[in-house]
Amino acid sequence: MTGEQVFEETIAKDQRVEPRDWMPDGYRKTMIRQIAQHAHSEIIGMQPEGAWITRAPTLRRKAILLAKVQDEAGHGLYLYSAAETLGADRGDLTRRLIDGRQKYSSIFNYPTLTFADVGVIGWLVDGAAICNQVPLCRSSYGPYARAMIRICKEESFHQRQGYELLMTMMRGTAAQREMVQDATDRWWWPSLMMFGPPDDESPNSAQSMAWKIKRHSNDDLRQRFVDMSVPQAEALGVTLPDPALRWNADREHYDFGEIDWVEFKRVISGGGPMNAERIAHRRRADEDGAWVREAAAAHAAKRAKVGAA
Ligand code: 3HC
Repeated sequence: MTGEQVFEETIAKDQRVEPRDWMPDGYRKTMIRQIAQHAHSEIIGMQPEGAWITRAPTLRRKAILLAKVQDEAGHGLYLYSAAETLGADRGDLTRRLIDGRQKYSSIFNYPTLTFADVGVIGWLVDGAAICNQVPLCRSSYGPYARAMIRICKEESFHQRQGYELLMTMMRGTAAQREMVQDATDRWWWPSLMMFGPPDDESPNSAQSMAWKIKRHSNDDLRQRFVDMSVPQAEALGVTLPDPALRWNADREHYDFGEIDWVEFKRVISGGGPMNAERIAHRRRADEDGAWVREAAAAHAAKRAKVGAA
């Protein structure tokens, strides 16, 4: 059998494509694209919450938030390593991110205005990530699917700590309850945008689903997230900012209002409230860390020379 036939059979049998297997150039390209977008999202995603580590209201909240932000860094490193198995270079991917030639999740381009934002990011943003990423544990590319297993376990901790933080605030003062409602109002619609454009405007979905990279469509996962979040909002005692939200017994799903796709397109093309800050921060971190990378490379080269002698 040719490499192409083996690849086709692997996909048809729901088996895993591994780094040394033959794969179509287009498969490699779109896998690097998606994994890089995901890795960039994890690293940029450290910024919004990282801003609250020094201002957490208690030592317990600080410790939880530190652990969560460290997890995001780890997720980014797993995913850059998965991209490297496809021949990508981590430094090149970072430059593509900083130059705007690769994307990261739109959700991280919104400001975190109060500590309630930390809870709502855990509840809604990590909740959306879980909806989107649990199916990716069955993605056809082996290293990506395997990275997802640990990432999803840690995202579940992130989601639960966020929801618990909000439950605590909702049992607090009226001002704290207002902070939670205000954060929910600001993060709800951007969370729905995390799942990508509507299916009929998604240029990558058809091929990604044919190759079993994606297992469900953007709209299906978005609907799953809405259905999961409405009861959680009710239990929390907050109102989701969508007057069109209502249970549709015929569909057995919640109907919801129209997403502002003009805002979505603006944010993913660099025009969101925080895009410039997020990229400037990432550029500064990359520049400040250059000497560490150079020293590590020089040390590795010296050891290799000694080893070869
Ligand atoms: N933000 C930024 N860009 C987005 C986007 C979003 N919310 N949704 C879609 N896009 C981009 C896509 O990357 C693609 O652009 P590109 O071709 O230049 O890469 C374009 O918009 C068209 O979208 P498609 O639906 O055709 O693209 P995909 O098939 O790649 O689907 C996706 C988009 C659903 C985000 C998919 O890439 C995916 O599932 N990625 C892996 C999961 C992921 O990246 N999640 C990020 C969430 S943040 C996170 O997990 C951190 C955690 O701590 C919360």
